[in-house]
Amino acid sequence: MGVTKSLSILLLVAVSFVAAAEAANFNMTNNCTYTVWAAAVPGGGARLKPGESWNINVTNGTTGGRIWGRTNCSFDNAGRGKCLTGDCNGVLECNGTYGTAPNTLVEFALNQYNDLDFYDISVVDGFNIPLKLTPSYNCSSVKCAADITGECPTELRVPGGCNNPCTVFNTTEYCCTSGSAGCGPTDYSKFFKERCPDAYSYPMDDATSTFTCMGGSDYSVLFCP
Ligand SMILES: *[C@@H]1O[C@H](CO)[C@@H](O)[C@H](O)[C@H]1NC(C)=O
Ligand SMILES: *[C@@H]1O[C@H](CO)[C@@H](O)[C@H](O)[C@H]1NC(C)=O
Ligand SMILES: *[C@@H]1O[C@H](CO)[C@@H](O)[C@H](O)[C@H]1NC(C)=O
Ligand SMILES: *[C@@H]1O[C@H](CO)[C@@H](O)[C@H](O)[C@H]1NC(C)=O
Ligand SMILES: *[C@@H]1O[C@H](CO)[C@@H](O)[C@H](O)[C@H]1NC(C)=O
Ligand SMILES: *[C@@H]1O[C@H](CO)[C@@H](O)[C@H](O)[C@H]1NC(C)=O
Ligand SMILES: *[C@@H]1O[C@H](CO)[C@@H](O)[C@H](O)[C@H]1NC(C)=O
Ligand SMILES: *[C@@H]1O[C@H](CO)[C@@H](O)[C@H](O)[C@H]1NC(C)=O
Repeated sequence: MGVTKSLSILLLVAVSFVAAAEAANFNMTNNCTYTVWAAAVPGGGARLKPGESWNINVTNGTTGGRIWGRTNCSFDNAGRGKCLTGDCNGVLECNGTYGTAPNTLVEFALNQYNDLDFYDISVVDGFNIPLKLTPSYNCSSVKCAADITGECPTELRVPGGCNNPCTVFNTTEYCCTSGSAGCGPTDYSKFFKERCPDAYSYPMDDATSTFTCMGGSDYSVLFCP
């Protein structure tokens, strides 16, 4: 075998190895008793009947990644319509637009500082569906599965979920719009934190809510764990 040929085979092997290592797979499964329209940025969206799964590959280095579930949607054949919670600009396949509140969020940034993945569950935008996020590597899984909708304070109740106080009251305190100094826990954020201690309950809730894993892990997301 010529040097050129073995070199090109070597290169081919190297290229496919790099391609395989460059994406993280997110496998979303609907364990709820109702249909969930899964949504991902980047990624798109898919209708998941109870028991169904949807897989996406997310590119190495992605920041600002989000996965959430939408409820009570109706879409036409072109994938246009709307959802009661988590709607992303009225399309089945979300295209860069995050969901409307309330929606329980999985958030992630892949291969950051020291090639670490950063991930969390957030109820800063309120709560609609219970969630669990599990890395394939030996790192912490995160869950928010309390009955937040059922126990939601009256003022925050909306059809399909429990809204966040910033969306409802739009004050600097709840929205943390005056910078990090004035951004602390509130009575409402404590309501969420007591029920989901591992989830973000207000924007600066980093200390107890952010998790890391070695870059290269895959992840599974379970709706209604
Ligand atoms: C996704 O998760 C479901 C449920 O655990 C499993 O049946 C399925 O094989 C998984 N798919 C992939 C590609 O990992
Ligand atoms: C994700 O990447 C793997 C490995 O490269 C590939 O086998 C799989 O088909 C991809 N899945 C999707 C949904 O693109
Ligand atoms: C998503 O948005 C981009 C940029 O706005 C556009 O080029 C692309 O066609 C859109 N994709 C879909 C599936 O709508
Ligand atoms: C997973 O990590 C924990 C704590 O870091 C360790 O105690 C345990 O042995 C690890 N398990 C495996 C299978 O590597
Ligand atoms: C959402 O749809 C379910 C059926 O899947 C229904 O039971 C429920 O009443 C709907 N919720 C609202 C607020 O319309
Ligand atoms: C929230 O209040 C600010 C001023 O404090 C205003 O500029 C903004 O438009 C309000 N947002 C909404 C959604 O009402
Ligand atoms: C992701 O890409 C960076 C360089 O951009 C590289 O250092 C790192 O090894 C890659 N990680 C994985 C898991 O592919
Ligand atoms: C799926 O939901 C059922 C309750 O409806 C629960 O008992 C079960 O543990 C859930 N499955 C997983 C894998 O969490």
